[in-house]
Order: sequence, then structure tokens, then C-alpha cells
Amino acid sequence: MQKIKVMTIFGTRPEAIKMAPVIKKLCETPEIKPITVITAQHREMLDQVLDLFQIQPDYDLDIMKSGQSLTEITVKVLQGLERVLAETGPDIVLVHGDTSTTFAASLASFYQKVRIAHVEAGLRTNNKYSPFPEEMNRHLTAVLADLHFAPTEKSRENLEKENIPADRIFVTGNTVIDALLETVDADYIFQNKELKDIDFDNRKVLLLTSHRRENIGEPMKNIFEAALKIIRDNPDTELIFPVHRNPEVRKLAFSILGGIERVHLIEPLDYQPFANLMARSYLVMTDSGGIQEEAPGLGKPVIVLRDTTERPEAVEAGTVKLAGTDAGLIYDTVRELITDEEAYKKMANAVNPYGDGKAAGRIVQRLLFEFGLSDNPGREFGR
Ligand code: UD1
Ligand code: UDP
Repeated sequence: MQKIKVMTIFGTRPEAIKMAPVIKKLCETPEIKPITVITAQHREMLDQVLDLFQIQPDYDLDIMKSGQSLTEITVKVLQGLERVLAETGPDIVLVHGDTSTTFAASLASFYQKVRIAHVEAGLRTNNKYSPFPEEMNRHLTAVLADLHFAPTEKSRENLEKENIPADRIFVTGNTVIDALLETVDADYIFQNKELKDIDFDNRKVLLLTSHRRENIGEPMKNIFEAALKIIRDNPDTELIFPVHRNPEVRKLAFSILGGIERVHLIEPLDYQPFANLMARSYLVMTDSGGIQEEAPGLGKPVIVLRDTTERPEAVEAGTVKLAGTDAGLIYDTVRELITDEEAYKKMANAVNPYGDGKAAGRIVQRLLFEFGLSDNPGREFGR
């Protein structure tokens, strides 16, 4: 049988988590020959996801360097992929989301006239610099892509407004929910000593993550100072912050929150302990994109430490609040949830506007249909 060659290209932790369910499905599909390429824009944070989901890349560009610039990432990905694409001749390339790997991989594929399918397409803030550079990475990828796998109806609408033909958009749900459902387990036991010792039943555990480029500097300082005051003023709370490996984030985090009682600055967690930590936390404070999608599914209120979000669905459902990066506003928003049980209950509803755990299956089915290998066009998420 003539198989279609489907190449998946990704480089960072969240792309790997969200592409893992798709790669699994591609590998299970007899009509498809999967080719997995990592740019390794991230290294340790990517490798732990590959280990967890047992993904063995066919090509590893190994581009990461400490304190890398956006230009360095873009140039190295473009150069590295030229040879890989020429050597393997894929029928289609799958990219994910909005990182610099995503955009550069799309551009490299376009240069070789290879079709591009964009997974998690259509998220928009329509603010060029927020998030930076992700908003432009998404726009630029959309312009280059031939097929758009939008996670929600809202993302479909965004693409339609940009004149992407309706028949090039397919709503799948977000693959992050596929990964999450496979990973959270009520009986999970933490290996990390610090997490093992936390009394999740009797303490209010606040989970913090922050890494966005546009927050580095004053906004991130505000975030950490607000977190510090919250912990100091509320003796029944504990703060857990798995600190991203970006050296600038680490410097700020340790200078403000290092050595403080009931503050646990830990290394980035592997996905399995992290997902299970989310499930046991009281609330989540974050500027992450993926965590905004996961935590609502676990019934955890999310305070978003950004001025904009491209993920309005959970805000509308009432489980996510935008607090921005003003220390006072962050403090007041979190404080209310710690002290006002009614306010907490109102936000702590499990909702899943982002997916139903079947997104990867929809993507692969649609690929088969696109290549004439199946008559079944598939059914979209929510329809
Ligand atoms: C990148 C993405 C961002 C995504 C985030 C997920 C871009 C421009 N940014 O941001 O969209 O939300 O990943 O986490 O594509 N580092 C390590 N080890 C690692 C990973 C990172 O040491 O495993 C350090 C390196 O010093 C690296 C720095 O972190 O230079 C920044 O990594 P980079 O990928 O450039 O940016 P992120 O902030 O991680
Ligand atoms: N995550 C993880 N370990 C951590 C922090 C986050 O595995 O210590 C996971 C999280 O569950 C989510 C993804 O990483 O699936 C989000 O990655 P990140 O916040 O770095 O990027 P973003 O989603 O903002 O692009």
C-alpha cells in the first residue's frame, strides 16, 4: 500500500504535550508513515515529555542554546529543516500552535512546497505584541497553512474573519485534553520530596507558573511580589512554583521568592506530576496558554497573569479570570478566592470548552479524507 508521509515538527514542551496524542494516532494508522522531527528549541523540558509519551524522533535539530534570541531560533530551524525536508519528501507537515518553531517550520515547508496543516489554529488576541511573539507566529502560520485544525468554534470564526475558506478549517477540540485525560490519576503518588510532604487536604495550595517573554521585567516582578504578599498574609496557604528554565525568569523568581517560608520554588515538573499537581491544587496563577486550557477541565480556578487572552472560552464559562500584571489586582483577585468560599465555589466548576479527549482521532481521520484514503470526512468537535 502506498502510504502518505506525515511529518510532525515541534520544539517546545507544550507542543510536545499537545502533539503526543496525534503522533500516537498517526503511528496506529496503517495508511500513514509518520516522521517525527524535533527542533529542540527546548531541551530538558522537551525530552521529559518525549520520555513520558515514548516518542522517538527521527530527526533532532538540537538547536537550543542558553538565552537564545528569536532570530537564532528562527534561523536555525529554517536551516536545519531544509535538509530534512529535502531528504524525506513528506506529503504534509503538521505544526502546532504559536512558537517560533511553529512559524519557522511552516516557512521552511512552504519553501519546499510541502503542504502544511496547522494544529491549534485560529487563536487570536489581535494584539501584535501580546502574547509576544506568539500572536504573530499564529497569524504568519495561518497565512502559510493549507489546512487549519481549529480547537473551538471561536477559533474557526477567527480564521473565517481572515478569509480562510470554510472548507480548509476543521474544528477538532484541543489535543491537550486528550493528553490530560490520559495523565491525571487520583492515585498518583508524587516522587518529588517537597510535593510529597505537602498536606493538600488541609492547606490551600496555590500553583504558580510564569514564563511569557512580554512579562519578563517589571510585570513579572509585580506577579512575584503579589504572590509573596498573598503567602505572607494567609498562613493556611502554600505556593508551589515550578520555575521555567529561562535564566531571566529564574533570576527574578529566586530573588523575590527564594528562601521564603511556605514558598516552594522547584524545577519544572515532568508532565505527569504537573498535571496531577494541578488536579490537587486549590487554584492556579499562570501566564501559560496550555494551563488555561487544562485547569478548567479539572475544576480549578485560574487567575491569568496577562492583559489579554486568546482563550476566551473558559473566561466566559466563569472558571478563568484575567488579572493582568498589576500586583494589587492580582493580590485582590486571589485573596477573594482564598477567603470567600462562595466566590471560590462559583469559579471551581469543571468545564471543558476546549475538548473532549478525541481531538487527535479527528485530526488523523480528516487527514485520511484529505488524501482520498477514506470517504469519511469525520465529525467536528461540538457538532
Ligand atoms: C517558548 C515559546 C513560547 C512557549 C514556551 C513554552 C517562542 C518564542 N517561545 O518560550 O511560545 O509558550 O516556549 O514553555 O517560541 N531553557 C532551558 N531548557 C529547556 C527550555 C528552555 O534551559 O528545556 C532556557 C534556555 O536558556 C532558553 C530559554 O530557556 O534559551 C528560553 O527558551 P525559549 O524556547 O527561547 O523561550 P520560552 O520562554 O521557553
Ligand atoms: N507543564 C509541565 N510542567 C511544568 C509546568 C507546565 O509539564 O512544570 C505543562 C502544562 O501542564 C501544560 C504545558 O506544560 O501542558 C504548558 O507549557 P508552558 O506553560 O511552558 O507553555 P504555553 O502553554 O504557555 O505555551
